Amino acid sequence: MTRFVPILSALVGLTALAGCRGQVSEEPPIVPIRNMYDQPRYDPLEESDFFQDGRTMRPPVEGAIAREMEPDSTIATGRTEDDSAWLLEVPAQVVQRGGGMEAVVERGQDRYEIYCAPCHGVAGDAEGLVANRAVERGFATLKPPSFHDDRIRHMPDGQLYATITNGIRNMPSYRHNVPQDDRWAIVTYVRALQISQASRSTAMNDATAAGSEEATQ
Ligand code: HEC
Repeated sequence: MTRFVPILSALVGLTALAGCRGQVSEEPPIVPIRNMYDQPRYDPLEESDFFQDGRTMRPPVEGAIAREMEPDSTIATGRTEDDSAWLLEVPAQVVQRGGGMEAVVERGQDRYEIYCAPCHGVAGDAEGLVANRAVERGFATLKPPSFHDDRIRHMPDGQLYATITNGIRNMPSYRHNVPQDDRWAIVTYVRALQISQASRSTAMNDATAAGSEEATQ
């Protein structure tokens, strides 16, 4: 009997080796215990036999909106409900859920200094580092207008919001970098800048009229 043991183990060893000859098998592997991570699934865009329209990727149920999507189109676009004009003011709901005007302006300043000041300048006078460098390099057309120009001072809030959202000519869109309520917050801060600079420039004009050189620096 003991004679057969080495022969038997040699046979078992050979059989096992015969299994590793490097062939590629098209057959699914045999998995004795199917854990949850190994289960049938569809690949993206794969055809489905189960659904009538043949799509595995299901379209959202009609009327469903993503959680981060704004159901109120006026807030989302900065346009009035009938899309006939710009909203003149930042929507009250945005100010309310932002914790009141003061908090919203503060948030706006924080975001403005990150996302707008590099081009538009901390004071909104278009003296940002990027803008100035563009001019130095001979790309004067990339210098944005000052927010203290009459045209932009009189621009409705909704239009300012839409400019940030969609971009304009040489300015890129900030829709994806800055969430919607933050874009409105930036609008409130641009308004605050305009008011503060307007009163300062009046004060400066008075000072200049009085002959003070220093005040204009
Ligand atoms: C990369 C530089 C850059 C950044 C950052 C930038 N802008 Fe601009 N912006 C521009 C340029 C350039 C223009 C002029 C576009 C043109 O007329 O071709 C402009 C124009 C504007 C205008 C005037 C639009 C008009 O009707 O003439 C507004 C308002 C404005 N930007 C607001 C903002 C705000 C708010 C932010 C921050 C969210 C911002 N921009 C960020 C470069 C920038």
